[in-house]
Amino acid sequence: MLQYIMKGGTPLVGEVCIGGAKNAALGIIAAAVMADEPVVIENLPDVQDINVLLKAIEEIGAVVDRIDRHTVRIIGSTISTITVNSDYIRKIRASYYLLGALLGKYKQAEVALPGGCNIGTRPIDQHLKGFVALGGRYSIERGMVCVKADRLKGSHIYLDVVSVGATINVMLSAVMAEGSTILENAAKEPHVVDVANMLNSMGANIKGAGTDVIRIRGVQKLHGTEYSIIPDQIEAGTFMVAAAVTHGDIVVKNVIPKHLESISAKLAEMGCEVTEEDDAVRVVAKRRMRHTQIKTLPYPGFPTDMQPQFTVALAVAEGTSIVTESIFENRFKYVDELARMGSNIRVEGSVAVIDGVRGFTGATVSAPDLRAGAALVLAGLAADGYTVVDDISYILRGYESFDKKLQGLGAAIEMVESEREAARFKLKVG
Ligand code: UD1
Repeated sequence: MLQYIMKGGTPLVGEVCIGGAKNAALGIIAAAVMADEPVVIENLPDVQDINVLLKAIEEIGAVVDRIDRHTVRIIGSTISTITVNSDYIRKIRASYYLLGALLGKYKQAEVALPGGCNIGTRPIDQHLKGFVALGGRYSIERGMVCVKADRLKGSHIYLDVVSVGATINVMLSAVMAEGSTILENAAKEPHVVDVANMLNSMGANIKGAGTDVIRIRGVQKLHGTEYSIIPDQIEAGTFMVAAAVTHGDIVVKNVIPKHLESISAKLAEMGCEVTEEDDAVRVVAKRRMRHTQIKTLPYPGFPTDMQPQFTVALAVAEGTSIVTESIFENRFKYVDELARMGSNIRVEGSVAVIDGVRGFTGATVSAPDLRAGAALVLAGLAADGYTVVDDISYILRGYESFDKKLQGLGAAIEMVESEREAARFKLKVG
């Protein structure tokens, strides 16, 4: 089994370059199959979730040509089936974007029910509500979601909850519907805006992405495009917290500082020096951090995908902090793992009460999901002694070359596959 092994205690110092946003890329790949002309996507992160989605569209007949590690050309004219059902696709959440994209283009789609990180019940009722409002019918049979429409017609849709996935899926299914769609209570995340911009570059007519009302005027056809994905807000935030928790000094490059404001503000509140440049953010943490309160909220609020990393930082901050998770109901599973490293955190429902301890001690822990896995790595890098993080397949789903990027900042970390490799690492690091 793949593991990360690390020896903590070294302040991370230097520069790190952030890749393209995974969650934008997932919507953008689905959008790409809606054109018959070639679509070139740049700044694509080379992570497991993306590679699984590319494989899935290849399996239904799209041409996927990897030009280089971060650039792909997709041709959707060769798609020969609307049924997406493979072992891989069941593992990722964003398979549901193929429902919206194929429904929008071919008026029907059958996709295996989405998997993804186990952080709550994660229903897709709002996605389905959007499809129905546009004239679709759906059924769930043998683990597949099947949607079909004789014709898709623009509609007025009000989402009951602010959902990134449902917002992107409604955009995908409505761009080629007849007439206009108004989507209210839409999610405002940067990756929603990125998917809308990409669709507009293919000839779609979407206005208002980034606000809570999105207006879509249907067009008959989408054409080819070349599009570069925005930087990943969560990868950037993870490295910002790495600086904080290891008392380091990191320049996080190739970012859009505006997308990081809620993260920067919290780190500043906790006592870090945060400076913004045009496309970089520098985080310097000279002393032990202070306690604070965090509540996860839809953008521009504090992102739920940064909750575990900040809980790790607060676990070694001075005083008592409160973290409230308001998006997913089951997102504190890593707290038991963190307890093995000496933290003092009590979880009551959706609230974690964190009594800061002086420091972590290294231990063997398991990554329960993607972001919590990354957070445990940060804890290991701050800990005294060796830490082993198991089940890192979760982390590989969303972080490209995580170990290499951390090594570039001075971290003693390696990905190992056996006891022998772990022993060799210990011998080397001393
Ligand atoms: C996306 C991100 C995930 C991030 C989350 C919130 C992807 C692939 N994943 O997930 O990393 O943590 O946004 O920023 O982009 N809900 C419903 N019904 C629905 C849809 C959602 O009740 O039909 C609820 C969810 O249970 C959750 C909330 O709405 O409580 C937000 O979920 P949503 O924004 O849809 O998250 P995802 O798109 O699954």
